[in-house]
Amino acid sequence: MANNHWRKSQSQDPFVNSAHQESFRSRSHFKLKEIDKKYNIIKKNINCIDLGSFPGGWSLYANKVIGNTGKVFSIDIKEMVSIPGVTFIQGDFSDNQVCQKLASQVNNLPINLVMSDIAPNITGNSLVDQSRSIYLAEQALKFSTFFLEYGGVFLVKLFQGDGFENYINGINEFFGKIKIIKPKASRKESREVFLLAKSFNFVRSDK
Ligand SMILES: C[S@@+](CC[C@H](N)C(=O)[O-])C[C@H]1O[C@@H](n2cnc3c(N)ncnc32)[C@H](O)[C@@H]1O
Repeated sequence: MANNHWRKSQSQDPFVNSAHQESFRSRSHFKLKEIDKKYNIIKKNINCIDLGSFPGGWSLYANKVIGNTGKVFSIDIKEMVSIPGVTFIQGDFSDNQVCQKLASQVNNLPINLVMSDIAPNITGNSLVDQSRSIYLAEQALKFSTFFLEYGGVFLVKLFQGDGFENYINGINEFFGKIKIIKPKASRKESREVFLLAKSFNFVRSDK
């Protein structure tokens, strides 16, 4: 029953239909494009890390805008079909070994943007799902503070609910400018929003 409802809403969703027609890998593509058109976060020549990249909508978009003088590194637990020019690592981004593997690929290139579209597997228990999503966003923040260069940008998907305000307060410590964005391509009924944090002002001494 719930599945039928989901299928029906997918087939009536203009962003899903458009993603199929235009051969983008995901509906998420439109969310990033919309954020980028307004806030200009992806630029030619930058280097960026895409967390939770499967099936590849964000990586494809970023790779196209950045061009071949910058670089996109992508991570997902799921195997992603390769994109020419994009370095993909399969694994959990919060795992130390995966981070080390990534660091050796990054090879001291300055990372200007870390973006995370990560979502936990939904259990249906809203308390559990919310606390998992905040936990993953915290891990993504920790990851970004390790990889970002001074002045860098962090974009992270969040769900409004318990822990949301605390998360935003915590992020103020590391970034100069913060904005909460609800793209048109994000379903109205979803508590999903994106937090855009600019002007990273913290550099780890052990880097
Ligand atoms: C909404 S999808 C991303 C869609 C993608 N941005 C796109 O445009 O195609 C979220 C992804 O996060 C991944 N994910 C969840 N937890 C993860 C983790 N700990 N490490 C790496 N990837 C993770 C999932 O496997 C899933 O593919």
